[in-house]
Amino acid sequence: MADIKKIILKSGPCADSVAFLKLYLTALERPVSRALVLALRIKFSPDIFEAIRASRLHPEEKAALFSKAMNLFKSGNAYKTTGPGRSPLTDSAILAQAGPGSLIVETGVSDGVSAMDLLEKAKGCEVMLTDSQDCFLYRDFCCGRVFYSRDDGAVSLKLPFFYFSTGSSAEELPPDARRISLLNPAVEEKFRAELAAFDIFSGTLVRKADIIKCANVLNTVYFSPSEIKRALANLSENLRDDGRIFICQNNKRYKDNEAYFILRKQNGRLALEGEVNGHELLSLLKTPQFSGLITGPGPQ
Ligand SMILES: C[S@@+](CC[C@H](N)C(=O)[O-])C[C@H]1O[C@@H](n2cnc3c(N)ncnc32)[C@H](O)[C@@H]1O
Repeated sequence: MADIKKIILKSGPCADSVAFLKLYLTALERPVSRALVLALRIKFSPDIFEAIRASRLHPEEKAALFSKAMNLFKSGNAYKTTGPGRSPLTDSAILAQAGPGSLIVETGVSDGVSAMDLLEKAKGCEVMLTDSQDCFLYRDFCCGRVFYSRDDGAVSLKLPFFYFSTGSSAEELPPDARRISLLNPAVEEKFRAELAAFDIFSGTLVRKADIIKCANVLNTVYFSPSEIKRALANLSENLRDDGRIFICQNNKRYKDNEAYFILRKQNGRLALEGEVNGHELLSLLKTPQFSGLITGPGPQ
């Protein structure tokens, strides 16, 4: 029953044009028109990203529209909401720690705009952008297109003027499928950056990172405490000894709208090195569940 509800919520009339997207986003800003468009269950398929990419908009407008379209999509339980310069306190702390040649990996980076400050300012470092959902794959059939979400293989169909979420997942992603990148065109063009697939629970980086940033991904709305522990353990596996993980959250309830903490890996174990503005996960880290993972004095 719950699955049918999910399918209905994720399916609806669809027109992937840039002009229609702009109209839709404007409608979302006013309560009455917002209620109307939400009641109509209007959807956009991953094709909207290609339509924005191919548009003749000014590069800045194109980048902003790409991120706004991204905000309409989800990966599992997680929204893909993002924006440039979103975590300035965390980015400054990262830049203060990064030395020449450091590998800085931003995980769950959505379309990449949240990493633009690091890409711009981390001179002499390699900044790698990753997300479990780096792209959508698709194949065409007689009257439409079938999309596969890269992270969980979720299958959806685009028919003329209708988007249908099937509620099922492909066991294997088709090798001949074509790809729609979720990397923001501004990040691609300005920094020649790439967006790599990396799942915080199970991913393995090509080489261990000196610094891992994980912003607005790990929270108890998206993930259970045991999932958060599993993600931190896997991030630690991908960190070189003496490396640091920066876990950040942006929310109006924090001073400066931002809180973060730093976990440092020493002799193979993580220890809390510092925190700013009381990140909500700190109390969770104090629980016995995390004692096997996080050592040292621990959060006070
Ligand atoms: C709210 S967005 C945050 C985007 C960006 N970090 C920021 O702060 O603007 C959450 C992101 O986490 C990603 N995500 C969800 N589950 C993930 C996983 N298991 N591994 C890696 N990324 C994941 C989603 O695809 C999404 O892009």
